[in-house]
Amino acid sequence: MPDSQTAPTHDWNGDSGTRWAANLARLDLMLEDFGNAAIAAANAQPGELILDIGCGSGTSSFALARQVAPDGHVLGVDISEQLVEIARTGAPANLPVGFCCADAATAPLPAGNFNLLFSRFGVMFFNDPVAAFTHMRRALKPGGRLVFVCWRGAQENDWVRLPMAAIRDIVAPAPADPDAPGPFAFGDRQRLADILAAAGFAAIDIAPFDTTISYGRGATREDAVDDALDMAFQVGPLSRALADQPGELRAEAAIAVRATFARQPGVRSVLIDGAAWIVTAQN
Ligand SMILES: C[S@@+](CC[C@H](N)C(=O)[O-])C[C@H]1O[C@@H](n2cnc3c(N)ncnc32)[C@H](O)[C@@H]1O
Repeated sequence: MPDSQTAPTHDWNGDSGTRWAANLARLDLMLEDFGNAAIAAANAQPGELILDIGCGSGTSSFALARQVAPDGHVLGVDISEQLVEIARTGAPANLPVGFCCADAATAPLPAGNFNLLFSRFGVMFFNDPVAAFTHMRRALKPGGRLVFVCWRGAQENDWVRLPMAAIRDIVAPAPADPDAPGPFAFGDRQRLADILAAAGFAAIDIAPFDTTISYGRGATREDAVDDALDMAFQVGPLSRALADQPGELRAEAAIAVRATFARQPGVRSVLIDGAAWIVTAQN
């Protein structure tokens, strides 16, 4: 069992990992444009060695492995045993990709080995981000690149801001530290730049990337709204806010959140804006 350095609210080797695994297809659709933008920024070349941090079920690892094949290699590292098992099982034959279940903040990594440290939304959960990024930077070759995509603040991401606002008068919001480990820990651009600089990275660039997320999908608009509601209740900040609430409050919240999603555009989908940073830096 890996030694977890992630925040206790994100039990990636337990409940959070199980919920993520149960919603993989939806989450891959939700994150696709963001991941593709980060992969384009990474500009991986044939023959390169890549570490995919917090690789989850391996979607970005597979895409990168296709780019570095046949002589390169992608190592996906993730703290969730369940997600690593899905990645291993789902890896297409003949792709130069492997997976390791470990805490990327402390895992023994070969020094000066990788051309690229990459992540699709897998680096915001470290309790001590400066120590974690310092540790991972040592695994980069001199001049090697760091490229990742992470969320901007929750207030800039309508897929979380709108449903959370819908339940504000039903479930009192828990006091939140915006810098705490979690999906929105790197929302503050200056704080993120300071963390990477303190970890020894140079040429740090943090660029906004905005896109419309297809948050729910279905054969009809009603199905799509139901799908969005179901997803919000299963993964993400709303699911955590409602996790320990009594049934009647959850039912009241479901009505309010459904009405919110129903006001969003979309035909067989629920379209909501998402806001991320594409981060690049060098060793
Ligand atoms: C938001 S999910 C993203 C998963 C995947 N990159 C994707 O885009 O589908 C965050 C991932 O980071 C992993 N993770 C969190 N903390 C980690 C750590 N300290 N070391 C390795 N992986 C970690 C989680 O297990 C989870 O798979």
